[in-house]
Amino acid sequence: MSESDAVSSMQPTSQHIQDTRAKHWPAHAMKFCFGMILLGQVLFLLFIFAFYYPSTLSGAFETWNSKPLITGYVEQDSVGNFGFGVHVLLAAIITGAGLLQVIPAIRNRFPVFHRWVGRTYFVTALLLALGGLWLVWVRGSYLNLTGAIGISFNGSLIILCASYAWYLARKRRFAAHRRWALRTFTVVSAVWFMRIGYMAWGMATGGAGIGNRMDGPYDYFLAFGNSLVPLLVLETYFLVAKKGNASARYAMTALLVLCGCSILAGSAGAWLVMWSPYL
Ligand code: HEM
Repeated sequence: MSESDAVSSMQPTSQHIQDTRAKHWPAHAMKFCFGMILLGQVLFLLFIFAFYYPSTLSGAFETWNSKPLITGYVEQDSVGNFGFGVHVLLAAIITGAGLLQVIPAIRNRFPVFHRWVGRTYFVTALLLALGGLWLVWVRGSYLNLTGAIGISFNGSLIILCASYAWYLARKRRFAAHRRWALRTFTVVSAVWFMRIGYMAWGMATGGAGIGNRMDGPYDYFLAFGNSLVPLLVLETYFLVAKKGNASARYAMTALLVLCGCSILAGSAGAWLVMWSPYL
């Protein structure tokens, strides 16, 4: 090889430059998406604290029914009311703990705190999933069978992902733990994604496919889509980060920016329509 050939083979090609540029875009877009999730879940947390905490902790359970619920408070049903009360109190704990876990600055600077919040998160996830299954199948809080099966599917995914993420942390397999902890966060957030999904879709289509008793095609799609769509996006992100070429990385970036913007719109809608009117 001549000297000039050797020098030119060391020059970065336009393909190399494009690959290097594309390398970090999905991670930046994922940060944007998480920023929007953080914002939207803070609003959910505010609603739970402001609406459910005063009524539940003071024993004014009938106040729950001032917002539309499937079952909510039922006179004489102390066990059912207790189950619902515990569920909404735990909902704030898991939402708050989840947000603390995904902020990298907290994770990196306060590892002991991260571990304790992590344990609280996984125990609360299991209690919420088991309690939620009880509310559906024993208390009968569901509008239709597809919805009941969809939310139970989500409860089962929570139990599976949380248990495995915890197991991996105990085995000190941290790279795998991180992936499974993100999967757990995704499926735990499904009930929140559902609310955001309804609002974003409602704003975009005027409510096409939404039935009066959550029995329209969009309701059936979202009953499972609330877990599966965010999981699919996350798995695609993992795959693209590992093996994707420049085009795949740009496409992933565009998808994540679209998701982030939809989450922002859905969160604003949920605050304006589902939560703030009841505070
Ligand atoms: C893990 C995260 C979860 C959170 C943060 C959460 C949060 C909530 C909240 C805030 C409510 C009150 C309803 C409202 O004001 O919108 C609620 C109700 C309910 N949740 Fe969950 N939940 C979770 C998981 C689950 C799971 C996995 C199931 C079922 C397997 C479930 C089943 C129910 C049921 C049946 C109700 C009662 C609905 C009613 O009576 O109207 N939840 N949840």
